[in-house]
Amino acid sequence: MSETSTMVPLSEKLQGNVARSVNPYGCRQAVLNQIAYVQAKGHYAGAKKALIIGGSSSYGLASRITTAFGQGADTISVSYERPPRDEKMLGTAGWYNNVFFREAAEKAGLIAKNFNGDAFTQDIKDQVIDYIKTTFGGQIDLLVYSVAAPKRINPDNPDEVWRSVIKSVGESVTGENIDLEKNELFEQTVEPASEAEVTATKHVMGGEDWEIWVNELKKAGVLAEGFKTILYSYIGPKSTYAFYHEGTLGAAKDAAEASSHKIQKVINDINGEALISVSRAVTTKASVVIPIFPLYCIALYKIEEKTGTHETPIMHKDRLFRDMVYGGRRAVDESGRLRPDAWEQRNDIQDQVADLMTKITPENFNSDLTGYAEFRREFLQLNGFEVPGADETEVDLAALKRLEP
Ligand code: NAI
Repeated sequence: MSETSTMVPLSEKLQGNVARSVNPYGCRQAVLNQIAYVQAKGHYAGAKKALIIGGSSSYGLASRITTAFGQGADTISVSYERPPRDEKMLGTAGWYNNVFFREAAEKAGLIAKNFNGDAFTQDIKDQVIDYIKTTFGGQIDLLVYSVAAPKRINPDNPDEVWRSVIKSVGESVTGENIDLEKNELFEQTVEPASEAEVTATKHVMGGEDWEIWVNELKKAGVLAEGFKTILYSYIGPKSTYAFYHEGTLGAAKDAAEASSHKIQKVINDINGEALISVSRAVTTKASVVIPIFPLYCIALYKIEEKTGTHETPIMHKDRLFRDMVYGGRRAVDESGRLRPDAWEQRNDIQDQVADLMTKITPENFNSDLTGYAEFRREFLQLNGFEVPGADETEVDLAALKRLEP
């Protein structure tokens, strides 16, 4: 017998810069809006069978949407999301993104399989490989690795848990950050990471697990000739180096680049390609908890309002795959990395951003001087709030529980 209806009112709840509530139908609308964006740009040749690790939100979800609805590919996604439990815990946005992406893809005649579990484990890798062999046509031609995770269990020692930290390396850094819950600008000091913390962050956010995935997929014989794989890095402007590029996350991204070279050797014989895309700064669950980064974002977004170069994840990833990965219009740097972040890094933009950052104060950050309104709206939209086209004010918990990922 099915559960009886329980209507739950929908409202935004934040704890600092972490969302504590979700609007499931807003998430559905956000997925549909992203699909419409890609469809309006039209079809382009690319992958036919893709696996996205971290495909439930932001960059990974956008990659999945352009791959499915731009390239026409069947997709598998692995993500780690929570289903609805009770009135207080309606699940995570990524859970609903998976549900509604699958619904839309299937309606369009595409396969869209969701695995919900820890991508770092052997168990999930075995399940995915088995699915590719038995049900997905035997091979994949694209692997997107878009994981942002707080921890990883050492695959060789289950008693050891590596935790990623977002800290500077060497010296402490002081700057201003934004609290989205309180709508406040506050001063923040980030203490430098210990050596053990740097190492742990590399284990979690570097490319080790990406390598393991490719090695396992290759060993299983499920990689097609011409297979491509890609991971998203970040460099950003000098003003963010102390807490990103030269901090623990930057160390992990360097490790991921080293992994891309190792992966390239593994897939040379199938004419494969291992790519790093240095991506732009966007508002995501992972990026809003980076110290001081939100302040940079509100300055950047304001300047981009004038230059017309602001991009959300779907705009950025659609351009990446359409123009660069498959389109023959690649911007590549001296290290062979794809640089769709060139728009963000333009000198004229960064000069103005640096200037604006010096003018932002606790009194004026929440005004037209900055891009705070856009930043906050994008954050709320990640959880289904303030999404154009979604105006539900309550949901039926029993109906949510019946949704299949
Ligand atoms: P996000 O937090 O929106 O998405 C992370 C994804 O990883 C989700 O699908 C989540 O379910 C999945 N995930 C987390 N732990 C997992 C686990 N143990 N097993 C399986 N899936 C797991 O993060 P975002 O911002 O989209 O980041 C994706 C990648 O893009 C990261 O590598 C990040 O460093 C990179 N990037 C992000 C930028 C930004 O400004 N947000 C800029 C440049 C790169």
